[in-house]
Amino acid sequence: MIKSLIRMGLGESKRDKILWEQAAKDFIALVQSGEQHEDGDLLRRKLLIPYALKYLGNLKGKRMLDAGCGDGVFTEMFEKSGASLVGIDASLTMIEAAKERKVKNKLKSDFSVCELEEPNLFPKESFDLILANMVLHEIEEVDQVFENLHSYLKPGGRMIFSILHPAFDMNTSQRLARSRISSESKKQIMMKYELSAPYNYEVRYERQAGFTEGLVAYYFRPVSKYVNLFLTRNYKLIGFTEPTLDYDTAVKNDEVAAYYLPRFLILGGEKQ
Ligand SMILES: C[S@@+](CC[C@H](N)C(=O)[O-])C[C@H]1O[C@@H](n2cnc3c(N)ncnc32)[C@H](O)[C@@H]1O
Repeated sequence: MIKSLIRMGLGESKRDKILWEQAAKDFIALVQSGEQHEDGDLLRRKLLIPYALKYLGNLKGKRMLDAGCGDGVFTEMFEKSGASLVGIDASLTMIEAAKERKVKNKLKSDFSVCELEEPNLFPKESFDLILANMVLHEIEEVDQVFENLHSYLKPGGRMIFSILHPAFDMNTSQRLARSRISSESKKQIMMKYELSAPYNYEVRYERQAGFTEGLVAYYFRPVSKYVNLFLTRNYKLIGFTEPTLDYDTAVKNDEVAAYYLPRFLILGGEKQ
C-alpha cells in the first residue's frame, strides 16, 4: 500500500471547471453535428458500458445517481432500464444539454448542476446505485468525492466507477499508438513502454480530450490509490476490470492500441 503520494501541480480545481465548461461546448457541438456517435466512441460502447451494466446489476426499481452525468446520454439509458435517476454535473453546458434531452425524450430523470466535492448534496443513504463514469480522474478532491458518495449510498448499495487506466494513460507509447500511423507501426510501438512521470506520483496535467482543440485537466493517480478509496471505506469489491478489444475488432476499427493495453479501469464496490 502507498503511504503517501507525491502531489504535483495541484490546487487548480477552479481552472479545471473552466476548462471543462469550454470543452463541454465543443463536445455538445460535435454531438449535435452528428460527427460523434451519441453514445461516444467505440471504446466507450464496447468496453465501458457493458461492464458498468454488469456491476450495477438489476436496475429495475432502483434509485440511482449518475455522478458527473455529462449530457445525460447514459442517464437516459439507465432510466430506460428501469431505474429512477438523478444526474449531476459541474458543467452548466452539459446539464442544459441533459435537460434538453429530458424534454425531447420525455424522461423523468432529474438533472442539476453540482460539484461532486461539495458535501451534503443529498441526505445520507439516498441511493441504491451510484455510477461515476469517466469522471474521478478529472477531479482533484477525489477523497472528498468518495466520502460524499459513500454517505449517499444505502448499505448494500453499489458504487461503480471508470477512469482512464492510470498505468497506461501516461504512457507515451499509447499516445503515439493512437496517432494516425499504420497498424503495423502501432504494433511495434506498443512493444515499448514509457512513463512520462514516476508511477507513484499524483500529477495534474492538461491535454486535448479528443473532441476539443482546447485543453482539459486530468489527474494521474496510481491504481492502488483508487482501490484503496474503496478498501478504506470497507466496501466489498465486486468487480475490477481492465478491458481490451479483441484483435479483429481492434484492427478493423484502427484501435490496435486497445488490443494491447487497456484504456480504462472499471471498479465496482458494495457498501457494507
Ligand atoms: C468525460 S465526461 C463523462 C460524462 C458522462 N459520465 C459520460 O460518461 O458520458 C466527464 C464529466 O465530468 C464532469 N465533471 C468534471 N469535474 C466535475 C466535478 N468536480 N463535479 C461534477 N462533475 C464534474 C464534466 O463536466 C464532464 O461532464
